[in-house]
Amino acid sequence: MSKTYLVTGGAGFIGSNFVLYMLENHDDVRIVNVDKLTYAGNLENLADVEDDPRYAFSQTDICDKPAVKALFEKYQPDYVVNFAAESHVDRSIKYPEVFAETNVMGTVTMLNCAKEAWEQADGTYGDHKYLQVSTDEVYGSLSIDEPDTFFREDTPLNPHSPYSASKASADMFVKAYGDTYGFPVNITRCSNNYGPYQFPEKLIPLMINNALHHEKLPVYGDGMNVRDWLYVADHCKAIDMVLTGGKTGEVYNVGGHNEKPNMFIVRSIIAECSKAVDDPAITEALIEHVTDRKGHDRRYGIAPDKIKADLGWYPETAFEDGIVLTIDWYLAHEEWMSHVTSGAYMDYYKRMYEGR
Ligand code: NAD
Ligand code: TYD
Repeated sequence: MSKTYLVTGGAGFIGSNFVLYMLENHDDVRIVNVDKLTYAGNLENLADVEDDPRYAFSQTDICDKPAVKALFEKYQPDYVVNFAAESHVDRSIKYPEVFAETNVMGTVTMLNCAKEAWEQADGTYGDHKYLQVSTDEVYGSLSIDEPDTFFREDTPLNPHSPYSASKASADMFVKAYGDTYGFPVNITRCSNNYGPYQFPEKLIPLMINNALHHEKLPVYGDGMNVRDWLYVADHCKAIDMVLTGGKTGEVYNVGGHNEKPNMFIVRSIIAECSKAVDDPAITEALIEHVTDRKGHDRRYGIAPDKIKADLGWYPETAFEDGIVLTIDWYLAHEEWMSHVTSGAYMDYYKRMYEGR
């Protein structure tokens, strides 16, 4: 029987990849995309499916309880996948309140509406599931001198940035709904994603865009911070598998087995971009070491053993392949890039954060 997924933040980077992934891989799904369309949300990402009868969009803020409630009544979703968030660490350092509002209060609002819609007379919730898309950043930071240590699902939460603090708070509310009300939840905590449709404020698309335009490549600090890069399509598959196969109440870490220092990533992008457009001006001379990020986490690394053992998921895309696919995508979507970096988008950003 067809299932209805209420996907929040479906116009953002991972959300739009997930919407496209689900419609491509399942005939019998209905997707309701609920997105406020902040600077990070872009409906162009979903132009290919906007007329698909299995897809619907609502421009709604997940903090707006009456509006979210009405969506539950209208669409009667079986599942919620909550991607909607403020997602950039640097912005969170400047504007922590916006992160608390959307990431914490938005999550509580979604939980509340889902609970009210799904609760049955006997206090159970039928065949429903609420999946919170979280991050490995809630665990804090690992040492680069101990490469054999990894984040596991039972690693204590120790967030450092306002972004990760807001995501950890949201996770605690999701856990509390499971513990208090027996509400059917899963939390996934993934590592750094990369791939098509990522807004060029994050490391990989920013470096690709700057390299192609011969602009400086700003590397924070010594560039030896390590991230565990996960190709976005692999992440989408993991979420699909956790939704239908994940044990209720469980947390699943989703990692790419792909730990690399930032300098390695930047050098790879320079080499691949230079090759792809046959441009000898794209060189390492563009790299500029800039002031380090405040409270910069040194290393993230996930051992995705649990999701592999329980659900058979593993990251299929090697970084060497994923980065070429990503650069090719950006080269084929120059218009997308110039649109999302245009004045209109940046004005929205200013309006949103003004006075904070
Ligand atoms: P993104 O910033 O690209 O997209 C966020 C989306 O949420 C946008 O479409 C935006 O318009 C929407 N949104 C923001 N505030 C909203 C609100 N109040 N109501 C409704 N919609 C709102 O983010 P992303 O990189 O796609 O991340 C998606 C999720 O995955 C987030 O929860 C993030 O914390 C998590 N995550 C991301 C990464 C990563 O590497 N990108 C890694 C770990 C976890
Ligand atoms: P980012 O993509 O912002 O993801 P996160 O902070 O959530 O891990 O940054 C990835 C890494 O790249 C992080 O160590 C910070 C670094 N970085 C730079 O060195 N320069 C940049 O311009 C950006 C955006 C990030």
